[in-house]
Amino acid sequence: MDADRARTRMVDALRGAGRVRSAAVEEAFRTVPRHLFLPGLPVADAYADEAVAVQFTGGVATSSASQPSMMAIMLEQLDLRPGHRVLEIGAGTGYNAALMSRIVGPAGAVTAVDIDEELVDLAAVHLASAGVHGVELLAADGALGYPPNAPYDRIVLTVGSDDVQPDWVAQLAPGGRLLLPLAVRGSQLSVALDLGPDGVLRCDSVRSCAFIRLRGAAASADGSRAVVGLGVALQTPDDLPEPNVAALARVLADPRRRRPAPVPLGAPDVWDGFGLWLALTEPGTCRLLAVEPETELPDDLLPLGSAGGTVALADAEGAAAVVAVGSPGPAPGAVAVREFGPGGAALGDRLLAALDRWVAAGRPGAAEWRLTVVPTGADVPTPPAAQVIVKKHCRVLAEPPGSAIPSG
Ligand SMILES: C[S@@+](CC[C@H](N)C(=O)[O-])C[C@H]1O[C@@H](n2cnc3c(N)ncnc32)[C@H](O)[C@@H]1O
Repeated sequence: MDADRARTRMVDALRGAGRVRSAAVEEAFRTVPRHLFLPGLPVADAYADEAVAVQFTGGVATSSASQPSMMAIMLEQLDLRPGHRVLEIGAGTGYNAALMSRIVGPAGAVTAVDIDEELVDLAAVHLASAGVHGVELLAADGALGYPPNAPYDRIVLTVGSDDVQPDWVAQLAPGGRLLLPLAVRGSQLSVALDLGPDGVLRCDSVRSCAFIRLRGAAASADGSRAVVGLGVALQTPDDLPEPNVAALARVLADPRRRRPAPVPLGAPDVWDGFGLWLALTEPGTCRLLAVEPETELPDDLLPLGSAGGTVALADAEGAAAVVAVGSPGPAPGAVAVREFGPGGAALGDRLLAALDRWVAAGRPGAAEWRLTVVPTGADVPTPPAAQVIVKKHCRVLAEPPGSAIPSG
């Protein structure tokens, strides 16, 4: 297939779906040849709206060319202007750096770091073959940012982080924007944060995302899964105490009543819609992830990534989990709440009550939460409605949909 035609088709589709919205992002996607950053891949695949894993370590992808839709969403969140100085952490193939270089133009500057020297060498080849010369590529651990070229108007991570590292904040220009895939109670959210004069970062926009996680000094265990048995693993946010895995295994082996949920739910609802709501409003929220094609649970989980998963409330006496009814799919379908163990009925009540509150609030998704990041050392009053997520280097204040944005 002809690369120009394939690229035109891809950008038309990104435009049509509302992923690309601004003229600057559109021009960059129309101009930069993605296939040159994925040499060896058939042109049609290089312009498919899919992430392409380019490196594996122990069977796990450690680098990928991100899905064009997600890249477009993040470039719109980033709001780059000609002349901006940008740091990208997670250079990967170099494609995103090339897009950004196109937008900031010759008056701007793009610095892109990747922890993997081999990837940096390859990215340099890709950039040269695409005729892009405005990117400074370096092999470095982005946990420390890249001080020599600071301050930056924009710092963007194209790799998931559990925390907001002090060096990123320190290297932002006044009023600068930090955009990163941030772990928030089991969801990963692409959060655009503007640095205020008080040292507090206030969010401009939030979107759901799913990125490879940081390696190196800022690698975290938030994605870690404690195996429960029955073909499922447990994921709990690292700011909450982990439920007793042995007790949970016992409880899950004791399925009880299944109660229909009042509304249909799709996998995105269960993960970043209701799931995020539950995780931010109900103690004891955890996520169950299938680790085998068929779990030994009595119901299907929702399709999530390559396997299945769901959200649940659990304690030592019981659990209650959202489960699929019939064949589960990404589109909303019938779901139910399965209760487990002697304490399951009370947890089922709480889960269904939380679902009612989420529906009454208009079924908000990740984009409707307001996040404020308060780095250690900065201070801002905590709004009464905010949930506080304590991380090593910051506190994240999550305000539910409908509440006011805190002012500086
Ligand atoms: C999803 S890929 C980035 C895709 C890239 N932006 C592109 O356009 O191809 C994530 C990248 O982050 C890199 N990475 C992981 N940990 C890092 C760290 N601590 N510092 C810098 N890069 C890191 C990985 O090596 C990987 O290449």
